[in-house]
Amino acid sequence: MDKMTAIITGSGRGIGAECVLAFAKEGYNVVVNYTSREPLELVEKLDSMGASYIAVKGDVSVEEDAKAIVKKAIEAFGTVSVLVNNAGIAKDGLLLRMKTEDFRKVLDVNLTGTFNMIREVSGTMVKKRYGRIINISSVVGIMGNAGQANYASSKAGVIGLTKSVARELARRGITCNAVAPGYVSTDMTGVLTDEQKAAISESIPLKELGKTEDIANAVLFLAKRESSYITGQVLAVDGGMSM
Ligand SMILES: NC(=O)c1ccc[n+]([C@@H]2O[C@H](COP(=O)([O-])OP(=O)(O)OC[C@H]3O[C@@H](n4cnc5c(N)ncnc54)[C@H](O)[C@@H]3O)[C@@H](O)[C@H]2O)c1
Repeated sequence: MDKMTAIITGSGRGIGAECVLAFAKEGYNVVVNYTSREPLELVEKLDSMGASYIAVKGDVSVEEDAKAIVKKAIEAFGTVSVLVNNAGIAKDGLLLRMKTEDFRKVLDVNLTGTFNMIREVSGTMVKKRYGRIINISSVVGIMGNAGQANYASSKAGVIGLTKSVARELARRGITCNAVAPGYVSTDMTGVLTDEQKAAISESIPLKELGKTEDIANAVLFLAKRESSYITGQVLAVDGGMSM
């Protein structure tokens, strides 16, 4: 069997970088995607593992960049079997003060970026009649959250997109699922104060924030060839928050 190739967007750090390491450990060719600075620490780790990878700069919300990421992946590895749409941003604020540009920007990266990447990768997956698409949503896309009208809308949109793609591509051997993390310790949640983190932990049935490994494990599970009968699902990895 050919070696599988996985593209993980926004993977220079945090959950994305953890996914890159998890796929590399499983022997996949990995496509790292970053926006500004090359993620040297991650690249060093991949080199020391002897991993097969390329690192591609690109903004997923820009159509040409999404095209270029997929093109470079195919040039390097022949095809793409797994796409993990992890790139995401937050620009939090209360509704009354939220600027339209901040609403649009978050939708642009989190939702349109996910759409751009799925559209670009679907051709090669359809040709091979095989694919695993995993979109990183959020518990906030299921439950909503005060101060995150833009972010919650984008992540709820990702769920609708996931189910539509799952239905559209099901007969082509391609599954599409979403992983909805709860609160995970990364740069994104680094802005929270210790008091806020303690209050959040208290509200989580499992009483602690998640780790990047928790999310990478779920992504890897959905990416497996054996997970072929799971599609259009939203797997909450949230310590029980959204049940
Ligand atoms: N940390 C959490 O608690 C949490 C919870 C639920 C969902 N998520 C989601 O998980 C994903 C990863 O988040 P994280 O916590 O690792 O945060 P992070 O900020 O550490 O990582 C986000 C990554 O996305 C990249 N990125 C941003 N805009 C991009 C663009 N336009 N094109 C390509 N890459 C871009 C960033 O450079 C960064 O590497 C995001 O989609 C986020 O919304 C995180």
